[in-house]
Amino acid sequence: MADSENSVEMEGLYQPPNELQKDAHVKSFDQYKEMYKKSVEEPEEFWKEIAKEFYWKSPPTGRFLEYNFDYTQGPISIKWMEGAKTNICYNVLDRNIERGLGDKIAFYWEGNDPNDHGKITYKELLQKVCKFANVLKAQGIKKGDRVAIYMPMIVELTIAMLACARIGAIHSIVFAGYSSESLADRIIDAKCLAVMTADGVWRGTKLLNLKQIVDEAIRLSGERSHKVSKCIVVRHLSPSDEEVIDGDGDGHDEPPAKRPYRKLKINWHSDRDVWWHDVMKDSSDISEPEWMDAEDPLFMLYTSGSTGKPKGVLHTVGGYMLFTATTFKYVFDYQPDDVYWCTADVGWITGHSYVCYGPLGNGATSIIFEGTPMYPDAGRLWEVVDKYKVTKFYTAPTAIRSLMKFGDSFVTKYSRKSLKILGTVGEPINPEAWLWYHKVVGNGKCAIVDTFWQTETGGHVITPLPGATATKPGSATFPFFGVVPAIVNDEGKELTGAAEGYLVFKQPWPSIMRTVYGDHERFETTYFKKFPGCYCTGDGARRDEDGYIWITGRIDDMVNVSGHLLSTAEVESALIEHKAVTEAASVSHPHKIKGECIYCFVTLKQGFEFTPDLTTELKNIVRAKIGPFAQPDFIQNAPALPKTRSGKIMRRILRKTAVGDRQLGDTSTLADESVIDLLFQNRPNDA
Ligand code: WT7
Repeated sequence: MADSENSVEMEGLYQPPNELQKDAHVKSFDQYKEMYKKSVEEPEEFWKEIAKEFYWKSPPTGRFLEYNFDYTQGPISIKWMEGAKTNICYNVLDRNIERGLGDKIAFYWEGNDPNDHGKITYKELLQKVCKFANVLKAQGIKKGDRVAIYMPMIVELTIAMLACARIGAIHSIVFAGYSSESLADRIIDAKCLAVMTADGVWRGTKLLNLKQIVDEAIRLSGERSHKVSKCIVVRHLSPSDEEVIDGDGDGHDEPPAKRPYRKLKINWHSDRDVWWHDVMKDSSDISEPEWMDAEDPLFMLYTSGSTGKPKGVLHTVGGYMLFTATTFKYVFDYQPDDVYWCTADVGWITGHSYVCYGPLGNGATSIIFEGTPMYPDAGRLWEVVDKYKVTKFYTAPTAIRSLMKFGDSFVTKYSRKSLKILGTVGEPINPEAWLWYHKVVGNGKCAIVDTFWQTETGGHVITPLPGATATKPGSATFPFFGVVPAIVNDEGKELTGAAEGYLVFKQPWPSIMRTVYGDHERFETTYFKKFPGCYCTGDGARRDEDGYIWITGRIDDMVNVSGHLLSTAEVESALIEHKAVTEAASVSHPHKIKGECIYCFVTLKQGFEFTPDLTTELKNIVRAKIGPFAQPDFIQNAPALPKTRSGKIMRRILRKTAVGDRQLGDTSTLADESVIDLLFQNRPNDA
C-alpha cells in the first residue's frame, strides 16, 4: 500500500489504521482477547458491568443469566436479567437527554429526491414518540398487543417503533417491499390489531402505493377471519385527496423531481383509517414509559423458514438493548462526534439494530436514507457521505458489487475524506468487492468490518473490531464478546484447529432470539435439535490456520438474494399456484451482483406449453405472492424432476443443472436416469 501514513496491508493481513487505533475502545488484539475471555468465562459479571450504564427501575429478581441450550434436558429457554424492570425507549431517548444530548441530532433524514431532507434532535424525537405513544393508547393499544408497521424509510417509522416500545406494544415491522399477501400472512400470524403505514413512497424512479398494498392486506386478513381495526397513515406524498400520478399524461409516472406530480390516488376507509398528522395534532407529549420486564417481548420480525412459512423471531427488551448498544459501540468504534450511516431498511433486522436501537442507545447521530444507491446515479451514496461528513458507513456486499460495475469515477468524484470505518453485512463478501470497498471507497485508509449475524442473533456475533483486529478480505474474523462459536461435523463432533463444517454457538449472548412467536417447538426444532446443546446457525464455516472464521454460506434450503434470506419452499409454493404448473423446484444459483439468485424448475400440466409469456407470468406470481425482491432470475422447463426412489427431489442435481455442470457425482439413488438429459436439453440460453 502506497500511503505511508496509513500503511495497512502486510502479507494479505490488513492492520487496523493507526489513526483509528489511537483512540479506539479496543486498541489491540491482546486487549480484545482479554475482554473476550472475561465475557465468555464470566458472562454475568461482564454484562452486569455494561448494564450499569443503562437505566433500570429495579434489578433482576433472580440470577442475571439463566438458560438451557440442551433440549434433552428440558425446554430450551434463555433469560437475561429476568425480573429487572426497564424500558428501552426511555433508555435510548430520555436517558440520553438527561446526559445532556437533548439538542444533538438523532437522525438526519435524506429523501429519495436529493432535495428532500430533514433532521430531528433527541428532544424532538422524544416529544414525537411520546405523542405517538399516546395516540396508540387512545386507539386502545396496550402492553403485549401486536402492531404491524409497513412504512418507507422516514422518521415516522422510528417514531412508531419507539412509541410501541414505550407502551410495551410488540412491533412487527414488515419491509415495505413485501406483497399484500406476505403482509397479510404476517398480520394474521401475529394477530396485529393495527397497521401503521404511509400513503406511498418513491423508490428510485418507481412510485409505490403502500396504502393500496395495506388495504389489500387488511382485506385478505378479514377474509381469513382476522380483523385489523386501525390503520394509521403518514401523509408522505399526497398533499391533497384527488390526485394523479401521471401528471403530464404521457403514460409514465413522473419522477420525484417533478414535485407537483408527487401525488398518489389512495382509497380511504373512514371506519378504520386515520391520518397520522390528524391524530398527532392534539396528542400530549408526556408519556410515562411502561416499565417492562427485561424478558418481556420487544418486537418480532419475520424471517424465512425452510418449510416456507415465515417465522416470527421474537426478541426481548433487556438483552437486546444491551447487545445492540454494545456491538454498535465496539464494532463501529462509536465516538461522540461520529456521523454514522447504515443504508439498510428498518424493515430488516439490520435496520432495527443498527439504524434504530444500537445507535440511539449510544446517543449517536445517524442518517435515515429513503433512497437507493443508484438514484439519481451511482454516486448517490458518496454524495450523501460528503453532504453529512459520514464517519462510519454500513452497507451490504450486493450494493458494493452493483456499484463496482459502474467504475471508480462515481466514487472518486466525491471526497469521502470523513470516512473511518466501512462495514458490510448480509452475505459473504467476495475478496474482490472487499478490496474495492477498501481501496476505492475507503482510499485504503478505513478499517473494514465484515459483520456476520442473523435476524435470530439480534446483533453482530462474528466480526472484527476496527482498532484491534487485522482483517483478511472475505473473513468475518472472530467472535464478538460473549459469543462462543464452534465448528462441528455431521455427527455434531466439534472440530478444532483448521476445519470446515457447521457453524454453531455454544452459549447464549444477551440478544439471541427467545422463541418463534406462537411456536416454541418450531424454535427448538429449527435451532437446537440438530446439534444438542448448541444453537445451529444454518450456515457453514471454515476456520483457517490462524483461527479466522470464514462463513461459507447456508447449509439449508435457503437462498440469500442480495442479503435477504428466502426459502426455496416459499418460492415453490407460489409457483404451483399457477394453473399451468404441476410441480416446481427452486434452487440457489450464483449471481454476480446479488450473490445468489433463484433458479426454478417447473413441470407443466398436460396441455400447457412453455412459452416466454408463461415465464413472465411465473416470475410475476412470485413477485405478487412474496415481493418483487423474490423474483426468480431463471425459470426452466423441466418435463420431469430428478427424484430418489422415495420421491425426494434431488436438489443437488438441480443446482448442478442450473450452472451447466455435468459432473453430477453419485446418481445411483436417482429413480430415473433419463431425467438428466432432458434437464440439460431444456436449460435456458441465458443461464
Ligand atoms: C444470514 C442471515 C444479519 C442481517 C442481515 C441478514 C448471511 C449475514 C453475513 C456475513 C457471510 C452473512 C448468513 C446468515 N450473512 N451476514 N457477514 N458473511 N454471511 O439477516 O436475513 O437473518 O440472514 O445472512 O447466511 O445466516 P438474515
